[in-house]
Amino acid sequence: MLAIRLVSGSTGPDALVLPVRPGAPDAPPEVVPTATTPGDDIRAEVAALLPVARHTGAAGEIREHLRPGGAPSRLWLLGVGDGDERAWRSAGAALARAAKSETQITIALSGRAGATQPEDKAALRGLAEGLLLGSYRFRLTEAGARPAALARVDVLVADPEALADTLAAARATAEMTRLARDLTNTPSSTKHPEWLADQVAAAASGRPDLHLRVRGPEELAAEGFGGILAVGAGSARSPRLVELDWRPADARTHVVLVGKGITFDTGGISIKPVPAMKLMRKDMAGAAAVLAATLGAAELRLPVRVTTLAPLAENMVSGSAFRPGDVIRHYGGLTSESTNSDAEGRLVLADALAYAVRELKPDLLVDLATLTGANAVALGKRHAALYSDNDGLATDLVAAISAAGEGAWRMPLTDDYLEYLASDVADLHSSPAQGAGSVVAALFLREFTGDLRDRWAHLDMSAPSWSDDVHDELVKGATGWGVRGLLRWLATLG
Ligand code: BES
Ligand code: MN
Ligand code: ZN
Repeated sequence: MLAIRLVSGSTGPDALVLPVRPGAPDAPPEVVPTATTPGDDIRAEVAALLPVARHTGAAGEIREHLRPGGAPSRLWLLGVGDGDERAWRSAGAALARAAKSETQITIALSGRAGATQPEDKAALRGLAEGLLLGSYRFRLTEAGARPAALARVDVLVADPEALADTLAAARATAEMTRLARDLTNTPSSTKHPEWLADQVAAAASGRPDLHLRVRGPEELAAEGFGGILAVGAGSARSPRLVELDWRPADARTHVVLVGKGITFDTGGISIKPVPAMKLMRKDMAGAAAVLAATLGAAELRLPVRVTTLAPLAENMVSGSAFRPGDVIRHYGGLTSESTNSDAEGRLVLADALAYAVRELKPDLLVDLATLTGANAVALGKRHAALYSDNDGLATDLVAAISAAGEGAWRMPLTDDYLEYLASDVADLHSSPAQGAGSVVAALFLREFTGDLRDRWAHLDMSAPSWSDDVHDELVKGATGWGVRGLLRWLATLG
């Protein structure tokens, strides 16, 4: 992965990146003050260039200026817009793309001499995450066959020491987001429940402060996890329940995160048509995000206990698959009638939520799931749908998610459709056909939250879990949605 270093003196004679921002109306853009280089000569040179450079200063806009025989021999003028974290993130991602055939570049961070300011930290955080996420590629080719990629970025700052923690946080966040992207992009020929559990074990190994328990089909049966078993019944590759616990000694708050981990969703007997099935290897993006966020919480030593539950199953079509009309007994005893085997996510989540409430008794409970296509219909491509009866929790989550550069939008968890959940043969109907798909799915989940009903939030993230195009720090494919927002939120709980 791209190495980012903080340095206080100029290093390479090659490319130097200078931040520029929009000027006053009708005036050319201006060079952003930086605490270190450039020297007055370069500053004057750039000031003379800007009126003719056709640069607007907008975040991510780049112009190259060649200086034959000079040191540096090339100047890149990088737009950083209004200079906040989001703008620097776009700029960092654009820089990563523009520099993909460079080996090393140096960039002067905005800032002033003297004490490091909060704005300097925000700029570095945005820059580092933009660079690391914008340069992400998922390829199954041999390492040697990969195209050359930018290997090192030196960031010029006044006081490297004062920014070291900020860079470490950005790096851990980006690394975990990249892990979630890798897991989600992996084809389902490779990725099955046991494989995914093994990846978590590998990532958690060597960390005695992380505890991992993986339940296989026998344990799931013995303890009554009927939803996970039903959904996994049609696959030759049996289901798992991953329980990963980060338990720092100084924790005062205990959060349980639950993530949907369907390693492939054919729809089951209620089989999906071709266009709807082609991307269903991503149906474990919720599990990937909560697991990666927990690994990140441990890496950053956040003083909050986080237990993550990832129910993993493959929803397949076969002679052993569960059938429409089956009645499932979930963990804890509630039963549900399922008339559509494609509404499988809520069945595995129901078990995990009920287990969390009865056995783990956390202070807060949050689930992430690629639960319904309705999420994208309502909110487009970038926002998850957030459901909660707790206004404070909803506000905090939306704020943390958006500060981290992701999107979530609160939706009505209205009781209006509760009657849709009525079943003649079971406690609940899991897949009513009346509509309000994303809301009804949330209402179904809420039935399993018991005493924690008012301390629970559900994020339906099927839309933002995947990107169809390159946009800022997102590249085509899995986005790792949720890792950044969850880490930001967990850091506020302490
Ligand atoms: N995994 C899908 C939801 C999904 C759709 C995720 C598109 C990402 C992109 C989920 O299991 C599903 O099939 N949901 C159904 C629910 C319905 C059968 C009640 C849906 O949304 O159509
Ligand atoms: Mn489905
Ligand atoms: Zn699904």
